Amino acid sequence: MRVLAATSEIYPLIKTGGLADVTGALPKALAGFDIETHTLVPGYPALLSAARLCPPLMEFDNLLGERATLRHLLVEDLSLLVLDAPALYDRGGGPYVDQDGNDHPDNWKRFAVLSLAAAEIAAGVLPGWQPDLVHTHDWQTALTSVYMRSMDCRLPVVLTIHNIAFQGQFSSAILPEIGLPPDAYTPECMEYYGDVSFLKGGLATADHITVVSPTYAREILSRRFGMGLDGVLRSKLDRLQGIVNGIDTDVWDPASDPALPFPYDARSPGNKKRNREVLLDRFGLTDGKGPLFSVVSRLTWQKGMDMLADVADEIFAADGRLIVLGQGDHDIEQALTATASRHPGLMAVSIGYDEATAHLIHGGSDAIIQPSRFEPCGLTQLYGLRYGCIPVVSRTGGLSETIIDANDAAVSARVATGFQFHPVHADGLRHAIRRACQAYRDKRKWTRMQSQAMRADYSWDRSASTYAAVYAALVKAAAADG
Ligand code: ADP
Ligand code: GLC
Repeated sequence: MRVLAATSEIYPLIKTGGLADVTGALPKALAGFDIETHTLVPGYPALLSAARLCPPLMEFDNLLGERATLRHLLVEDLSLLVLDAPALYDRGGGPYVDQDGNDHPDNWKRFAVLSLAAAEIAAGVLPGWQPDLVHTHDWQTALTSVYMRSMDCRLPVVLTIHNIAFQGQFSSAILPEIGLPPDAYTPECMEYYGDVSFLKGGLATADHITVVSPTYAREILSRRFGMGLDGVLRSKLDRLQGIVNGIDTDVWDPASDPALPFPYDARSPGNKKRNREVLLDRFGLTDGKGPLFSVVSRLTWQKGMDMLADVADEIFAADGRLIVLGQGDHDIEQALTATASRHPGLMAVSIGYDEATAHLIHGGSDAIIQPSRFEPCGLTQLYGLRYGCIPVVSRTGGLSETIIDANDAAVSARVATGFQFHPVHADGLRHAIRRACQAYRDKRKWTRMQSQAMRADYSWDRSASTYAAVYAALVKAAAADG
């Protein structure tokens, strides 16, 4: 089967979060099910120098008034269709924001054009290759199915929601510019309280909607988690499905991770201690009797990071240490930096984004904290499991179903892999940290939990087979419809 995926980010080329990890890993996992994926991505600077060495596949003369060249780039196991449109994508900053952290003002156009290009490829403009199915991700490519339906292209479309908090909502003033017929701007499609919602348009027109964990798929049906789209989702129950993310076990493997000075695995985890020493040293921390906790996260309200500075004293009281790697809201960054400066040698904060350091942190820490208020799936806790770095998490979304809380029953059944708390507030987090510190004092108990965590299987195998089954059913139904 041939699949066209469309995404705004993909590991290892361009990443701001878990979306890139998923779009980078899923095609490899699906290849084992005889599914060939080409992934359409914008021609950001990070891709262009390599992409421009490749001969053009085709030219688009008019994507909402823009010219673009489509280039084919092979990166490791990924087959990329790079949309080279310099006026839209070849600029500084990140995929969504400029150097000062402000949204690119033309994001609506940048991602409408990406979606339109995906729709045209789906409709067959690319010589020699047409997909059987299209897979879009989040609001940035959600318009693909709206464009396809407006062109009367009936190929099946799967839309995956990675985070419903981001919807691609823009003023209706953009309507004349995005090349869609008036019937796309209705309450049943992309009209949203007088604005235009890219995600809502995608939800209305995709054949199947997947969500990155079954728990989050249920949660977003409620007003509390649905962020204004719960009603739309409730009307789509027959096509809504939660499929938990996996992790790329080649990229995240403590036995072969180039970022770890000392490799280890579940059978011989001894080297983890040596990575811990390197990590403490790297961040200028002293050692203590308590656990080394870490955070690798966007520093935002969603991630519960505003609570962290308040509860850090619980860690120090147990002679523990805390390392934070992340970036995000200025106030949270400042509060954490100020807390670290009051506790030299005990806490370190690195504001920024650094892939290799993230790996070293998982390799050297005892526990990883993820106190999210909502979490569609979450990947850091899965990396934590694989690296024997015990997750301390809130019980929400994907965190609730990937971590088994160390309650008495789970401990005696030898299945516990972490610590959960609920409801999500600072006292709950404080209590979970205290439980982790207590467990750490019992070395046998801790080592057993680490081993259970490292043996938990969150590779893509299972979820990829579910995606493959979804694709097969849709393609079969489309063929039956003629
Ligand atoms: P989200 O996509 O909501 O940010 P996930 O847990 O799904 O959350 O994925 C986050 C991804 O981004 C993980 O791969 C994590 O290691 C990575 N990450 C987050 N912050 C940083 C950072 N400051 N430096 C390096 N990697 C980071
Ligand atoms: C989003 C979610 C995160 C999820 C990731 C990959 O960024 O916030 O929970 O793991 O997408 O699906």
